[in-house]
Amino acid sequence: MPSSEKKFESELFELLEELRPFALAYYHPLVSGETDSPEKVEQWFRRFFIRDFGVGVARAYVKCPHLEPRRFLAENLFEEEGRGNANETHPALSLRLARHFGASEEEIQRTHDKWMKSPAIAQYLELAASYDWLEDFAGFGLGQEFFAPPLFELIVERLRAEFDLDDETLKFFLVHMYEDVDHSVRTMKMVTRYADTDESQQKVCSAIRTTVMGLAGRSGGRPASELPAPIVETLRKRARVAGQVIAPT
Ligand SMILES: [Fe+2]
Repeated sequence: MPSSEKKFESELFELLEELRPFALAYYHPLVSGETDSPEKVEQWFRRFFIRDFGVGVARAYVKCPHLEPRRFLAENLFEEEGRGNANETHPALSLRLARHFGASEEEIQRTHDKWMKSPAIAQYLELAASYDWLEDFAGFGLGQEFFAPPLFELIVERLRAEFDLDDETLKFFLVHMYEDVDHSVRTMKMVTRYADTDESQQKVCSAIRTTVMGLAGRSGGRPASELPAPIVETLRKRARVAGQVIAPT
């Protein structure tokens, strides 16, 4: 017997809190102490390029037979593409930081291509290609977007404190601090509505776990590293303040 919508929602929030210390580990060096000097932060940002998030959104759209989530996915993709403004696409916003820290377009593209060809990424992409729309949808909506707002807030605070960055340069992080709260809340509602069999609920949980510990969790091909407990606690508190529901601890 599948869990009711309400029960499945609490099970998902529990799973998300279990995974929070590993989520979006690609960004962990910026808050864990690994990039302990401004030079290391600069080095990290010189390869910062979030190019393919929209590809996952589009993949779910193509496979989705339901009108409501499909509209939501189209809206998400429209935001990824800068709502029609080429300078405001999310890949372009991420490049503002890489450029600010001195990377050339060619250097960024080369590093990204190399990263995309690593065995870990190739393995994840092969698995993701076999996902149904709900697995993809839950994978990026809950396995990635759910975790972004509080983590990005910490990153913005650090960048503002250590570098003279204006909001236009920080915009990649600033837009996701707001858009991803809305996305994850709406994704949770739709996932619990459409995952209404034992099999689909299990597939959703496993896709979220794989996304967190796979592509999104990897930094340069390395597996997800665990954030220290005090940072995880700060992220939980900020998620609560931002209006994201989290499991009772
Ligand atoms: Fe985005």
